[in-house]
Amino acid sequence: MARAATDRREANAATGAEPLVSSTFGFSRDASGAALLGGVSLSKLVRDGAVATPSYVYDLDAVRDAARRLRAGFGSQRHLVCYAVKANSAGPILRALRGEGCGADVVSGAELALALECGIGPEEVVYSGVAKRDDEIDVALRSGDRGILAIQIESIEEIPRVEARAKRLGKRARVSVRINPGVEADTHAHIATGHDEAKFGVPKADLEHAIDALHNAPNVDLVGISSHVGSQLTAVTDYVAAAKVVLQLATVVETALARTLEFLDFGGGFGIDYGAGCPVSPADFAARLVELVANAHRQDTRVLCEPGRALVAPFGVLVATTIMEKRARPTGAMREWLMIDAGMNDLLRPALYGARHRIEPLDALPPASGQGRAMRVVGPVCESSDDFGEHTMPLEPVSHVVIRDAGAYGFTMASEYNGRALPTEIFLEGGNVAARIEPRRAAAWIKERAAL
Ligand code: LLP
Repeated sequence: MARAATDRREANAATGAEPLVSSTFGFSRDASGAALLGGVSLSKLVRDGAVATPSYVYDLDAVRDAARRLRAGFGSQRHLVCYAVKANSAGPILRALRGEGCGADVVSGAELALALECGIGPEEVVYSGVAKRDDEIDVALRSGDRGILAIQIESIEEIPRVEARAKRLGKRARVSVRINPGVEADTHAHIATGHDEAKFGVPKADLEHAIDALHNAPNVDLVGISSHVGSQLTAVTDYVAAAKVVLQLATVVETALARTLEFLDFGGGFGIDYGAGCPVSPADFAARLVELVANAHRQDTRVLCEPGRALVAPFGVLVATTIMEKRARPTGAMREWLMIDAGMNDLLRPALYGARHRIEPLDALPPASGQGRAMRVVGPVCESSDDFGEHTMPLEPVSHVVIRDAGAYGFTMASEYNGRALPTEIFLEGGNVAARIEPRRAAAWIKERAAL
């Protein structure tokens, strides 16, 4: 499919025909300034009625390309990219990444079942999660012939629980211990996970207790060590610091348990450019890992990573329609709002983390600096935090906007708050709409809520 897309781009270029698609993956602008995704005109999709708003639109070719570039960063090192399904759990995305040789990192029984349903093999799935229910542990133990690649143990108390389930089902449990490396990641506090106060992982100081618990769990096999320091890392420093801790502890564990680990999992968190820049690419993180394992004489160990955002965020947008403009002079000075039909229920990141996404007119380039007007872009939800921040808009009215870099933690964190239907998702491939997911509409919500 990816090849077909490239062929079509090249064919269009060769014939001089009006290109359906440009050579750009992800978001770009055409000569008139209109927004494109994967070379497809978003405003044409809206005007043709192919996209009702608010809608997420994703470029599957770009997602595939991102996976290929990340994997290239590992060179000949044995590795597995376990895509963090929580970032974007849509079937077309999971299938596209499976096609590029990715496995999955899941955090619930439902995500695990979804990954398997989309064709990802159980031997390529790791299951993280601080409080897994017994029935979720059972799904992992029952998958495939020997369970999933690893259940990631996040606390010592989980070891006897997994042992009990394995014994009961007559299975062997493959586990890895997720170490909390005690590294303060330089990112938003809500998405830093590897510091001492976090609920995630086994603190490195408790490792010997984990080893004791493993000694007392005859149906549990330790196959790896993992860690994840946080999300949206825009430098490799913290990731490298945590990786060094993992490498050091791997040797301690192997000695104590007299067994060789199959893999080391260094987690996800590769950052993207939300507009303020990101000087490192996912492949840069991979290349550093290759270097670190070589320095530790562990070239033969399989290296895992768990990126979510970096594989999908830049390749998805949220398209919205302007409902109206509002002007008010609360203190004399004029304030202007752009009120759109997408709200915090569709894209929660700004309300939850103060995250900033670029919001631009769909049909024209954003005004150059010093021009246009500063508007607060807000949604219809009855909450003050339903506010996407201040953005520069043209002087003339804007009928539609595009919210950029919304391919990760967008739809997956959406809700039906205020009785709002979940947004539609559209998947582009080779310059065409390849798939769409239409969630239930408001009428179904009303029926369900009104039922006795
Ligand atoms: N592995 C583990 C164990 C994780 O906890 C996470 C993310 C990932 C991998 C993937 O991280 P990524 O590569 O996507 O940064 N909702 C937030 C992000 C929460 C991330 C939670 N854990 C946001 O919208 O920024």
